[in-house]
Amino acid sequence: MKTLFSGIQPSGIPTIGNYIGALKQFVDIQNDYDCYFCIVDQHAITVPQDRLKLRKQTRQLAAIYLASGLDPEKITLFIQSEVPAHVQAGWMLTTISSIGELERMTQFKDKSQKQNDGIPAGLLTYPPLMAADIILYNTDIVPVGDDQKQHIELTRNLVDRFNSRYNDILVKPEIQMPKVGGRVMSLQDPTKKMSKSDDNQKNFISLLDEPRLAAKKIKSAVTDSDGIIKYDKVNKPGISNLLTIYSSLTDESIESLEARYQDQGYGTFKGDLAEVVEQFLIDFQDKYRIFYESDELDTILDAGRDKAHQTSFKTLKKMEKAMGLGRKRK
Ligand code: AQP
Repeated sequence: MKTLFSGIQPSGIPTIGNYIGALKQFVDIQNDYDCYFCIVDQHAITVPQDRLKLRKQTRQLAAIYLASGLDPEKITLFIQSEVPAHVQAGWMLTTISSIGELERMTQFKDKSQKQNDGIPAGLLTYPPLMAADIILYNTDIVPVGDDQKQHIELTRNLVDRFNSRYNDILVKPEIQMPKVGGRVMSLQDPTKKMSKSDDNQKNFISLLDEPRLAAKKIKSAVTDSDGIIKYDKVNKPGISNLLTIYSSLTDESIESLEARYQDQGYGTFKGDLAEVVEQFLIDFQDKYRIFYESDELDTILDAGRDKAHQTSFKTLKKMEKAMGLGRKRK
């Protein structure tokens, strides 16, 4: 069976964008792969975090993974900081990364611009840590939203570099992106990606938003003034984004939605989508609460940590040997 790895940062409560771009595809393919899902808390601290909030969000994210429909009997769910091989392998891959290639990462450019107290070095060196997360499990595929494309490309380059410079031991992963919803956009500025750490709450729908509030956010989402419900990302980014959300949550194709709403105004369309989103969140949050409050959550995370440790340690040892780290016994 091939292996799948993907991670989400507990840098806020995941948005409907994280759900559509990542979580939903995880659920769809969990039976086809040996799956590792990681809560990447060490990535979250590349920008300042409140300690208590981060811990709470980490547990919330674990419950959100499960509420999305992942089966803990089949998949491995764990927290990055509980498996030390990640930073160890991350450091090794940092040493073979060049500053130039890290500075070219769009996420580095975007996130470093938002820092007022100097740019944390971790923002620059985050991609080799992400590469380590992936390669430690001999990962074949990485399902992610399209903002992570550049990071996966870098991972593939680092694998080639490591394998040709040291020993041919690392597996080169493939990226997998959803057909619809690889980049869900901000509700108030549909030219910008929807992000869970956005300061403006109106820009995103969090999976734990009060469902009626989320419905209001959909109704007040920015659209254009021509009143035609048609997917056109360049000229009609707002309505195209809403069509994407609608299609992903209902599995009705965008073409079918366009046809169904051909003679209707934005008001009807937004009203219907608001109801879809509200009902989706009601159902989702019912499942979420059960996991968040259960002891089972800790049992699942403990088992995930142990299995992840076992697998990652083997790859780490091979990497150390290939690079000449540690001592040779007599
Ligand atoms: N807007 C999006 N549309 C579709 N997919 C998205 N993803 C993120 N935003 C969207 C996908 O969600 C997964 C988890 O992302 P992450 O937590 O590792 O970090 P991120 O990509 O930086 O996501 P955010 O929400 O924008 O977080 P912050 O605000 O902390 O930076 C990934 O698969 C990602 O592609």
